[in-house]
Amino acid sequence: MSDRWYEKAVIYCADIDTFADSNGDGVGDIRGMIGRLDYLARLGITCLWLNPVHPTPNRDDGYDVADFYNVDPRLGSLGDFTELVHQARDRGIRVIIDLVVNHTSDQHPWFQSARSSPDSPYRDWYVWSQAQPEDRHQGMVFPGEQAETWTYDRTAKLWYYHRFYKFQPDLNIKNPEVREEIKKICAFWLQLGVSGFRMDAVPFIIEETEPGNPNSPKDMEFLSELRQHIQWRQGDAVLLAEANVEPEQLKDFFGDAGGSANRIHMLFDFMLNGRLMLALARGNPEAIIDALRDTPKLPDGGQWATFLRNHDEVDLSRLTAEQRNEVFAQFGPDENMQLYGRGIRRRLAPMLGGDRRRIELAYALQFSLRGTPVLRYGEELGMGDDLTQDGRDAIRTPMQWNMAPNGGFSTAPAGQLVRPVITGGEYGYEKVNATLQRHDTRSLLSWFERMIRTLREAPEVGSGSCAHVDVPAPSGLLVHRADDVTGTMVFLHNLAPEDGVVDLSSLFPEADFPNDVLADQEYAEPGKLDKLAVAGYGYRWIRLCRKP
Ligand code: NOJ
Repeated sequence: MSDRWYEKAVIYCADIDTFADSNGDGVGDIRGMIGRLDYLARLGITCLWLNPVHPTPNRDDGYDVADFYNVDPRLGSLGDFTELVHQARDRGIRVIIDLVVNHTSDQHPWFQSARSSPDSPYRDWYVWSQAQPEDRHQGMVFPGEQAETWTYDRTAKLWYYHRFYKFQPDLNIKNPEVREEIKKICAFWLQLGVSGFRMDAVPFIIEETEPGNPNSPKDMEFLSELRQHIQWRQGDAVLLAEANVEPEQLKDFFGDAGGSANRIHMLFDFMLNGRLMLALARGNPEAIIDALRDTPKLPDGGQWATFLRNHDEVDLSRLTAEQRNEVFAQFGPDENMQLYGRGIRRRLAPMLGGDRRRIELAYALQFSLRGTPVLRYGEELGMGDDLTQDGRDAIRTPMQWNMAPNGGFSTAPAGQLVRPVITGGEYGYEKVNATLQRHDTRSLLSWFERMIRTLREAPEVGSGSCAHVDVPAPSGLLVHRADDVTGTMVFLHNLAPEDGVVDLSSLFPEADFPNDVLADQEYAEPGKLDKLAVAGYGYRWIRLCRKP
């Protein structure tokens, strides 16, 4: 069995500033996070992914970095950070951090120096154009919030490139000094004890931008270089990349044409994410089956990271317009729920109408599909969203801990909080919080704890193979299996409201005392697998055989 830790990990994504505030200033901080590590350990997660921790003007939730070698003073100090890494490790939890090196904040001293003079040593660290680039209104990532990708800087008297907001100038990857600096940043944080990086915007990092060319070349070799560098510094460090690209381009991010896995270890599976949403919206698993079939085979050591919700909008851009509209109709019918014409700015529980059966079903499905599951903070409680907040902030409200004012997130006056806590109604902290759910063995939180524990006993899921089991089955039912040298698991997930039955006896006649290890309810023993019932929106995880 593989001993690559990331294949068996459960990753939990949290933003320190909305997680737990230890000093009552209204902003979550590292000490607050340390105080909640026992909660995370009990939940069963094994890797904590922290959204950007660096000093920042905070105009894009920290994705506008002003100093790569420090933590934002609002969150604490570097000393606090190393304490967090140490305390987490003590509880069997690794820490990875966001590495945002496609761009810096326009307040970063490098950019300030670069724009100030043609002689600045940092001038060539950014991407400039003397002439107004013809493609300046193309390639925006945030349509509606961003009008262009080139902006004129009156100090430099030049146009600068920014794939994202105009306060995020892109770094120039063609410059060897920039490449060296990125490696130095990685080495610095590895030295402080992190286990790797969630690399932001990877397809744009490697873009060798040419003004006027919306399809500038990409330097994939930089990924091999970076991988080699971090692996030398720390053998088991990983790169987990955000690369939402066409399926045929994906394999190049994992490794070079020789088929080796010498670039990114793990990629978020955006394709599967869109298809999962479509399948849930339709109550029919066909879209997932297509995704399993169409996914390129990964080189050994390459791994998918699966997710349902992250800190951004649900990105449906890989679906057709018609499919996207189906998902909008089910999960984001109001214009106010939609974002950038391609996505939905809601959390999963409200998207599924707060229906507990469907929430469990969705997460049981995500966690049992191939790859490493990634969970966004608060999803384990079924937290809601706040559509009065701008854009993606709707799903970035503070963690709801208990019944105390501000949901126990902070003792500061409500008006001073980094973002308002959701209060009142079905998703307010008064009804949805960690403490209430911790005391209730039937709560969603208790279910997540159970589900993650069960997953840990099924290493086939993360490390083994995953395949659709093609048998006659009711239209809402997905049957898939995971196999490894450790054994075999079979999974039934019913995406439709109607009950169903499936016969798997001819496929697995040798099943060795099959038994349900997780299910939405008590079912009759699987027996010979010939009459496997699954309730509407129900699921069964069945162990077929276990090898020592
Ligand atoms: C992708 C991140 O997920 C998003 O939150 C951010 O705004 C952009 N990259 C820019 O860094």
